[in-house]
Amino acid sequence: MKEELLELLKSARIEIEGVIKEADLLNLKSKLLGKNSKLSELMTELKNMSLEDKRAFGKMINDLKYDIEQMIQAKFNKLNAKDFLEFDNTLPVELGNGSLHPVTIASKEVTDILKQMGFIILDGPEMESEYYNFEALNIPKNHPARDMQDTFYLDNGLILRTHTSTNQVHGMEKYGAPIRLCAPGRCFRNENIDHSHDNTFFQIEGMVIDKDVSIGNLIYVMKELLNHVFKKEVDVRLRPGFFPFVEPGFELDCSCLICNGKGCPTCKNTGWIELCPCGMIHPNVLKMSGINPDEYNGFAFGMGLTRLAMMKNKINDIRVLNSGDLRKLERFNIK
Ligand code: PHE
Repeated sequence: MKEELLELLKSARIEIEGVIKEADLLNLKSKLLGKNSKLSELMTELKNMSLEDKRAFGKMINDLKYDIEQMIQAKFNKLNAKDFLEFDNTLPVELGNGSLHPVTIASKEVTDILKQMGFIILDGPEMESEYYNFEALNIPKNHPARDMQDTFYLDNGLILRTHTSTNQVHGMEKYGAPIRLCAPGRCFRNENIDHSHDNTFFQIEGMVIDKDVSIGNLIYVMKELLNHVFKKEVDVRLRPGFFPFVEPGFELDCSCLICNGKGCPTCKNTGWIELCPCGMIHPNVLKMSGINPDEYNGFAFGMGLTRLAMMKNKINDIRVLNSGDLRKLERFNIK
């Protein structure tokens, strides 16, 4: 029996060493120590032995059992330690793919084409003085045009800008004439929120000041811009529009992209979509920022980036864009 026990220890050691998975080790444990194991078979043989042999072999069997248990425990520890070492916490956690926000994409598309036309990109503050938001744009205190652009008046005497036109003033003050600039950014207004109005939205301002700039130049730039953004030839038309900082002022419409100008619910059966207010910069605005209107003139436009992103992605509720609801934004996972 002694040989048998030694043989058992040897084969158990080899088997335990060969195991690589914890589950296999558990199976092996019951094979080596369980009810149907060789060991318990040997134990049942004890009862047929003399008292002396019983004692001697009983001890040997118990020692063997103990040794096997120890070997299995050691192996468990080793396997667990290995699992731990193999865990690489520098591997990326799977959170799914992120994507750029639809407004960011629209902004990039517009600035890309304007950059090619020689426009610089300007960034300006969202918190502004009334001077930059109104006065310097020919909207003096108590002018009724302020009513249409009610905003958030802050305790520090500043306001949240209602449009990116503030950057016309910053650009003229900083760089003078001639200049071509665009300025994308977030704007704020006191709005009743519904599916097409939000108190926070994005615009992009464009401004060109040079000698002998014409309305033809304005139309050309707008048309090029829209062809690029919508990736097809679009027709544009100008209607008169009033903004105190441009004269003449226009509303620029483009032919409806849904029905190609035939008339549909999106364009309210007119065939045209109102897209971008614009106009020739008012001489007062140039003068106030130190540019001589007898020498220079120019045009400006303010395109609604939020509006553009909605049109391009057929989003019919503006609230989705600022909600931070990734489940909804994920639908516009455009890379
Ligand atoms: N800032 C104007 C608005 O937000 C748009 C505009 C910009 C009009 C430039 C004319 C020229 O309504």
